[in-house]
Amino acid sequence: MSAEFDKHASSYDGGIDNPVKRMMGGDADQFIAVKARWLLRREPGLRTGGLSMLDYGCGAGDLMRVLADRGARADFTGCDISTGMLSEVGKRWPQVHGAAPATAVQDGALTPFAAGQFDVATISAVLHHVPVAERAAVYAELGRVLKPGGRLYVFEHNPRNPLVRYVIARTPIDENAILLDAREVQDGLLGAARYEIETDYLMFMPPGLAFLAPIDRALAWLPLGAQYAVSARKPV
Ligand SMILES: C[S@@+](CC[C@H](N)C(=O)[O-])C[C@H]1O[C@@H](n2cnc3c(N)ncnc32)[C@H](O)[C@@H]1O
Repeated sequence: MSAEFDKHASSYDGGIDNPVKRMMGGDADQFIAVKARWLLRREPGLRTGGLSMLDYGCGAGDLMRVLADRGARADFTGCDISTGMLSEVGKRWPQVHGAAPATAVQDGALTPFAAGQFDVATISAVLHHVPVAERAAVYAELGRVLKPGGRLYVFEHNPRNPLVRYVIARTPIDENAILLDAREVQDGLLGAARYEIETDYLMFMPPGLAFLAPIDRALAWLPLGAQYAVSARKPV
């Protein structure tokens, strides 16, 4: 499976080559920025420094980079099954943000990190690539590397949104994707730990039209946004 993603690594741009997605957003970073802004509201400590954050299945490191562009000063680490993707992380990281995130290759679902190593973990646009039977191992690994009281954020495409299904069916990197809804993520997480869970829906408005962002915030309860974010706090 690593090879499947290695071949997309150098040109990976979040599927922005899809004309519908381009019409909605302009460039790939604008889609990632919706998640980054949401995460910075949930985790203001990412701006002040001192938090460790793992981006699991980080790909080319774009979420960490866009967070840093918006003022995050966390101790970032990324991991992925694809060495090709990981080799992009340093290349795309602007020097102005200091040292690039540390990276590590996964062994399937498993990472080389210590138990309880991270304050915050994110997994963005990854689970739909993980075979259904292997998702429980991913939830377990995320729970293992989080500190007690740590927070996990799962960002995924929302299969309840018809435009999302249209775009995914026409995006080369998603050729083997199996979308999952927020309920499946919630159930999977609760199978791994007794998390406190909340879900927000994101991206009702085109990401390129930032002035419409307040409408997105008002609709966060409505399960029709193009993306969703499941927040899970690990018990202390
Ligand atoms: C669509 S990309 C998303 C990359 C990044 N999270 C982002 O939002 O830009 C999906 C990534 O998931 C990784 N991936 C696929 N299966 C995985 C698995 N079982 N465990 C970890 N990463 C995986 C791929 O190598 C790829 O980098």
